[in-house]
Amino acid sequence: MASLLVTGGAGFIGANFVGHWLSTHPDDRVTVLDLLTYAGNRANLDHLAAELVVGDIRDERLVTELLQTRAIDTIVHFAAESHVDRSILGPDAFIETNVLGTHALLKAARQHWVDGGRPHRFHHVSTDEVYGTLSPTDPAFREDTPYAPNSPYSASKAASDHLVRAYHHTYGLQTTTSNCSNNYGPYQFPEKLIPLFLLNTLAGRPLPIYGDGQQVRDWLHVEDHCHGIAAVLERGRIGEVYNIGGGAEMANLAVIDTLCAEVDRLFAAEPALKERFPDAPAAKGLPSASLKSFVTDRPGHDRRYAIDCEKAMRELDYRPRHSFESGLAATIRWYLDHESWWRGGQDGSYRAFMQANYRDRQPVA
Ligand code: NAD
Ligand code: TYD
Repeated sequence: MASLLVTGGAGFIGANFVGHWLSTHPDDRVTVLDLLTYAGNRANLDHLAAELVVGDIRDERLVTELLQTRAIDTIVHFAAESHVDRSILGPDAFIETNVLGTHALLKAARQHWVDGGRPHRFHHVSTDEVYGTLSPTDPAFREDTPYAPNSPYSASKAASDHLVRAYHHTYGLQTTTSNCSNNYGPYQFPEKLIPLFLLNTLAGRPLPIYGDGQQVRDWLHVEDHCHGIAAVLERGRIGEVYNIGGGAEMANLAVIDTLCAEVDRLFAAEPALKERFPDAPAAKGLPSASLKSFVTDRPGHDRRYAIDCEKAMRELDYRPRHSFESGLAATIRWYLDHESWWRGGQDGSYRAFMQANYRDRQPVA
């Protein structure tokens, strides 16, 4: 039986991971350490047999106490400030949590595990954004692609990756790192492209497309990501880095058109949706795509990300199972079936976010 400390486990990917891990390792003990920032939601863990400790990863004393009292042997580190747009508007929180927070965790882990001679694993969850941006013809990111982060978010994640690497090489901390592409799926806070555009569609609000909408991302269903992390924990080599991708490179406009078409199809097939969401264009017989609105581009917007996950496939037998179309349809279904989650949340998450909408989204044409 293992005892896991999952940081950021009340957020999007962390909560999905806790659910995935407990369904495959029901005898393990899972403690979640989460500060419950705007992105964290205790309701994400309601149905799971995990203990939630509300606290900050920068609190080294608290982390040490948890390592001791819960006999933690595995840390899976998700906690982060995770949205590029927010990092452009206010980078400080990204340095605080992603860099200093990761370092506080590493210090506590080293002291308790390495100095104490205890078997352990520290798994660090990172992003493909640390590798920078690709041209249309560049090969996909490999684990040995040089780092070239372009946003305060990706720079802070790159710094945390380097600290994890250094703690392995210098102190012998038993680490692994995974760098994944853009996730989507249940429980994603509606500031990110897919849930934001879905909920805007249902409310009849504009879909703010940055620049020309031809930026490419490699979409990864969160369940596939969780499988990938579990494979690294179970079969990954210590000190190694593994890229995890979904094999679904798509331009933003293609993602948005697929989403709009699926919403239109569902409204045509299920008349009750028209009553539930009367402001949606699809409720009035109009295409959801009529809400598309081109707005000023994000500063420093990376053009293309693509992941080469050949190493994870070869060494770990990792395979993404969701196609983008089926994964997106399942995700839309989940949001339709969990309206109280996105309307409520710990502090009315979606509503609060939309009311405090922090980005000036002026149409450019
Ligand atoms: P999220 O923003 O949904 O959740 C982050 C969680 O961390 C929240 O529950 C928040 O309350 C918690 N948190 C923030 N600061 C904290 C602190 N100081 N102490 C304790 N908890 C704190 O993020 P996500 O999308 O689930 O991402 C999880 C991880 O995966 C992050 O490290 C992110 O960089 C990485 N990642 C995400 C994506 C993606 O597409 N979402 C892609 C690549 C990598
Ligand atoms: P996002 O979900 O913010 O993830 P990331 O910036 O980490 O890739 O954005 C995904 C893509 O969608 C990215 O190219 C930016 C674009 N985007 C928009 O065009 N409009 C939006 O309102 C948002 C949130 C994102």
